[in-house]
Amino acid sequence: MTEIPRDQWYVAAYSSEIGHELFARTICGEPILFWRTRSGPVTAVPDRCVHRRFPLSQAPSRLVDDQVVCGYHGFTYASDGKCVAVPGQSRIPRTARLLPYPLVEQDSFVWVFIGDPARADASLVPRAPYLDSPVHATVAGMEPLRARFSLLVDNLLDLSHETYLHGGYIGTPEVAATPITTEVDDEAGIVYVSRHMDDTECPPFYARSTGLQGRITRWQDIEYTPPCLYILHSRVAPVGSVPNPDGTDPDAFHVEVVYAITPETENSTHDFWAVARDFALEDQEVSTFLAESNRTVVLQDVAALDVLERVIAAEPDGYQELSINIDTGGLAARRMLQSMARAPQAASTPS
Ligand code: FES
Ligand SMILES: [Fe+2]
Repeated sequence: MTEIPRDQWYVAAYSSEIGHELFARTICGEPILFWRTRSGPVTAVPDRCVHRRFPLSQAPSRLVDDQVVCGYHGFTYASDGKCVAVPGQSRIPRTARLLPYPLVEQDSFVWVFIGDPARADASLVPRAPYLDSPVHATVAGMEPLRARFSLLVDNLLDLSHETYLHGGYIGTPEVAATPITTEVDDEAGIVYVSRHMDDTECPPFYARSTGLQGRITRWQDIEYTPPCLYILHSRVAPVGSVPNPDGTDPDAFHVEVVYAITPETENSTHDFWAVARDFALEDQEVSTFLAESNRTVVLQDVAALDVLERVIAAEPDGYQELSINIDTGGLAARRMLQSMARAPQAASTPS
């Protein structure tokens, strides 16, 4: 099993999910409580009272101004996790404190750092600027997956499955038939997988949203920044169209398909998905169509991976895989995830 890397940033939620009320989500096995403070920033602390572990997200626990009051015996915490009141005594024990999680709110996501807070470096949060950009229109959602996160990484890094699992939506025969190129940038920590189809059928997902008729040129350029952020730069255009040397690309339609792959537990995952397009920005019908189609596609993956998780979990002694060319990107991603999972222990080993 690919271990969940610690000392890493993970997407915990969309910014729009967290308002001035208690919001709970488990990230990498840690139950976390979030709320947006009166002054604007989101705060996050463990969702367990230090007194007897009652979940602070659980009614009758409640938010009063910027303090959370435990619903069991009333321990009260400020937004920085400090306990400010306990019942029946004025002295507050020194250890009555919830350790706040480092957070970054960026590109419409709330990122949380899972691991040793002293190692949190906000400059290392990867970017997905399309999601919060005036030149893109975005639809988004999140589906719960009852499978380990590494199965979703495998799935997203090998798009040849589109032909079989997503036929009639985004899959056409050419996807599986076209070879990929894979590149790994170890220094930047990014896996790139590209598949360029020069003359291919246009699947309904793109035909209906762009209005392109007939055959197309279709490029899929994946950029995966382990562990959490995946961006598929998708370009569709009339056959033969290439970008201009100056980078402009007026005949093409660009769609940025963004996933945040956040482990919930060892065997479940938050599957955040977003589709940002650079055309038909005001067209509500296109937005509705892309949202429904992409959600359907995500649910097809979820159904397949939920089954796969049960199959794999039933073979605890391991199993033999057989990998082929299409798996090159997924295998590169696994190697990076494995070295990330090892890194924190290596760093704490005295030399
Ligand atoms: S469990 Fe929270 S105050 Fe007792
Ligand atoms: Fe898929």
